Order: sequence, then structure tokens, then C-alpha cells
Amino acid sequence: MTAERDPQTGIETTGHSWDGIKELNNPLPRWWLWVLWVTVIWAIGYWIAMPTWPTITGFTGGLLGYSQRAVVADELEAAKAVHAPLNARILATPLDRVRTDPELLSFALAGGRSAFLVNCAQCHGTGAAGGKGFPNLNDDDWLWGGTLADIEHAIRFGVRSGHAEAREGDMPAFVKDQLLSEAEAWQIVYYVLDLAVGAPKRDSPAAQLFADNCAACHGADGKGDAKLGAPNLTDAIWLFGGDRNAIYASVAQSRRGVMPGWQSRLDEATIKKLAVYIHALGGGR
Ligand code: HEC
Ligand code: HEC
Repeated sequence: MTAERDPQTGIETTGHSWDGIKELNNPLPRWWLWVLWVTVIWAIGYWIAMPTWPTITGFTGGLLGYSQRAVVADELEAAKAVHAPLNARILATPLDRVRTDPELLSFALAGGRSAFLVNCAQCHGTGAAGGKGFPNLNDDDWLWGGTLADIEHAIRFGVRSGHAEAREGDMPAFVKDQLLSEAEAWQIVYYVLDLAVGAPKRDSPAAQLFADNCAACHGADGKGDAKLGAPNLTDAIWLFGGDRNAIYASVAQSRRGVMPGWQSRLDEATIKKLAVYIHALGGGR
């Protein structure tokens, strides 16, 4: 059978026809064929050189032995090697002198920030501004003291974490444990509200109740005691809320916030970097 030719161009047709339009049997353009063959050859070369085909237990590794995993591992090793001397210096330097050495300080701040985002931000917030029950670490209101040593201690051992050296300090649950009646507790709550705005009613029965039950930890003036983790009640900065119901809940049930200790989870250099970082957030003493 001889192929049909297109009368206009004289080129053979493929014999396919759609609505009377017939397809010409033109050869593929040369450049197109070349590109096709080059990609085929490239693919075969790639199979041989690079990891490609899955096998039952793994994959063909390729002659070049390239692996993204190895590249990342090498880069991590390299970064560690770069950091090693600085980490060693951090370890050997007392905290207050890390702070005055510009090179160590910027290294500690960067490392402290990334360790903070990984380990601490879920409770204290990415910007360390805290939230209800989780202290703001940017301000100069400290439960447990704001010196470098205080901060390091809090990070290392935690607060009520169960560690023998953890910060302790337990406010009684005054109503729950029947140390005060509900009515007495409410009297004290209103006294505390006045205290927070700097206008406590001295010589009142409520002031007496405060002196008898609260002053031992929060101080006669209500300004708190960092040795016991007892917050300052006069600064209108509240960990657990400053409306009367929140304060009543603090007094009636007590709060006992828990912060985990990090000594067993983070290496020494990281703990020091974190202490420097938190101290530098703004409120360090
Ligand atoms: C599981 C939640 C949680 C995590 C995670 C956490 N903290 Fe805390 N942190 C707390 C709580 C709660 C307190 C307050 C305890 C209290 O009521 O006295 C606290 C207190 C602190 C204090 C003392 C603040 C003060 O005012 O004296 C510092 C410093 C601190 N955290 C730093 C850190 C650092 C650094 C990390 C990460 C390594 C971290 N925290 C991780 C919950 C957490
Ligand atoms: C044994 C020590 C102790 C005594 C006594 C004590 N407190 Fe406390 N108080 C604390 C500690 C510690 C905290 C912090 C609780 C925490 O971090 O979980 C606290 C927290 C509070 C808070 C929450 C503050 C905030 O920022 O949200 C209030 C309010 C408070 N106390 C009021 C009182 C009043 C009123 C009394 C007396 C009826 C009293 N406390 C007696 C130790 C004490």
C-alpha cells in the first residue's frame, strides 16, 4: 500500500484524519531528537554515578558515593569544630567574665537564644515574655533573684522539680488546708489588691491577718523574698493573675509552679550560655 501524499506540500500523511484534517508525517526536528538523546544518556550516567534505584533493603549507592546525610554530618562536624574552642573558653570562664568579653558574649547570646527556642520557649514564650504561671524573663521582676548566679541556679536545678538543690518555697493552701476561713482569705485578698496599688489599709484587721500569715514569706511590706521565691505583691506584676478571683485562688489553693531542672539534659556550656542570654534579656542584676 502506498502512503497518501498531501497534494499541497507533497509530504506523506500518517493516514490519521480528524474531521477531514490529515496529519503530515514530518520527521521530528533534529534539535529535538538531540535533546532527547542527551537526556537519555545523562539519565544513564546519573544512575551509575549517583544513588538512584531502590533495592529491597536500601538503594544503589552510585559510584560517587554521594549522600545528603553525609554532607549534613560533615557540616555539623565542621560547625562543631569551629565552636569547640569558644565552647571550651565559655566552660573555663566564670559567668560574669563571659559577659564582659565581647567575643564570648556574642557567642553565648547566639547559642543561648537558639537553646532557649528549643528548650524553654514552650513555657516561657519565644520572646521570653512568659504567660500565666510562666514568668516573664525580660523584666526585672524576679521570683528567685536576677543575678547571673541566681539565674544559672534556677536553670540548672529548676523550681520544685524534685532535684535536691531545686528552688523550693511552698506557700500553704490557706483555705484548702483550713489555715484561714474563706472570709479571712477574702479580707486578705482586698488588702493585697490595695497593696498592689500602693494604698494598703494599715492597722486594719486585714493588715493583721497579712502580718500573721503572709509577711513571713512576702515580707512585712509585701515586697517579696527571692530566697523563698515569694513574689513581690506591691509591683502589680502578677504571675498568676491580679484580679481578685485569681488572687483568691493563689491564697486559697496555692500555686506551686514547677520548672524542670536542666542539668541532666543540657551540657555545661549550654547552661552557661542560657544564663548569660536570660540575664541579658533586660532584667539581669
Ligand atoms: C515546663 C515549663 C518550663 C520550661 C520548659 C522551662 N521553664 Fe523556666 N520556669 C517555669 C516556671 C513555671 C517557673 C516559675 C516557677 C515558680 O513558680 O517559681 C520558671 C522559672 C524560671 C526562672 C526563674 C525566674 C524568676 O523570676 O526567678 C528562670 C531563670 C527560668 N525559668 C529559665 C528557664 C530556661 C532558661 C528554660 C530552658 C532551658 C526554662 N526556664 C524552661 C517553667 C518552665
Ligand atoms: C511559706 C511562704 C509563703 C507564705 C506564708 C505565703 N506565700 Fe504567697 N507565695 C509564696 C510563693 C513561693 C509564691 C509563688 C508561687 C509559685 O511560684 O508557684 C507565692 C505566691 C503568691 C501569690 C501569687 C502572686 C502572683 O504574682 O501571681 C499571691 C497573691 C500570694 N502569694 C499571696 C499570699 C498571701 C496573701 C499570703 C498570706 C495569706 C501568702 N501569700 C503567704 C510563698 C508564700
